[in-house]
Amino acid sequence: MQAPKADLLVMAPLLPSLMSALEREFTVHKFWIAGDPTGDTFKECAELIRGIVTVAPAMVDATLIGSLPRLEIISRFGVGLDAVDVGAARRRGVIITNTPRILDDCVADTALTLLLAVSRRVCEADRFIRAGEWPRRKFPLSTKVTGKTCGIVGMGNIGEAIAVRAQGFGMKICYHNRRRKPNSPHQYYEDMEAMARDVDYLILVVPGSDETYHMVDAHILNALGPKGYLINVARGSVVDQAALIERLKSGGIAGAGLDVFEGEPDVPAELRQLDNVVMMPHVASGTNETREAMGELVLANLKAHFCGKPVLTPFLE
Ligand code: DGY
Repeated sequence: MQAPKADLLVMAPLLPSLMSALEREFTVHKFWIAGDPTGDTFKECAELIRGIVTVAPAMVDATLIGSLPRLEIISRFGVGLDAVDVGAARRRGVIITNTPRILDDCVADTALTLLLAVSRRVCEADRFIRAGEWPRRKFPLSTKVTGKTCGIVGMGNIGEAIAVRAQGFGMKICYHNRRRKPNSPHQYYEDMEAMARDVDYLILVVPGSDETYHMVDAHILNALGPKGYLINVARGSVVDQAALIERLKSGGIAGAGLDVFEGEPDVPAELRQLDNVVMMPHVASGTNETREAMGELVLANLKAHFCGKPVLTPFLE
């Protein structure tokens, strides 16, 4: 006789391949159908749930965790745990997994894509041709990348992958971290404002947290200055967006490449109107290859746990 399938709560629609694999291996309850954790429909399945699969922007908060008495594991499709109440899960002894490393290359590619696109005015140039402007006037000059300096804020695996790529474009690298990395060949700045003053590009790759909330504020943007560019592939919360918009409008900084926003998916009209900003809708890891690999890892973590084995990628702070 087959062991009964474990019950999972899936927070939001996932890749079709992952969804079918989960439905094959587990009994899946869909949060977007079961709904409000205090409602009756949800209460019916809450007693059964042993695992959560979550994907941005779904929130796994203390109320939800508290309403699932048999919860053992939370598996995050993605790397950031800012939408999971990690403390509440830990207090209950719930295992947390995420999908680190396999998305590093794509996120690093996105950082360089944004850096090149905003410097070389790629999106503006594309709009210029589509609007039939080419026969009428010259396209303005752009900014050379080779020889410039990148300051990476958060020199983890993704930061390292960005450094390798930026060096390929002949750029110099320095970084700011909570701690100096003993084996890093790159210049370390303990003070982010001092680094912002010295670089042409400030690239953000830190996790979203209370500690990193608005760490790029008006002071840091002023230090970056009128020739500096901000690239954000971290979280919208890391940047004071109102201060950023003001500096982009006034020429306080040269431009920005943004994959993430405060209050996303809503992006202020003021930001959408600016030509010195290149934007992507939080899709840094969003390639077919990487998302499939992330799905396989989510599944492998859950299968390992429910077979009584250690998970492959536990989230360790
Ligand atoms: C991540 O993996 O954290 C991405 O930003 C998607 O949420």
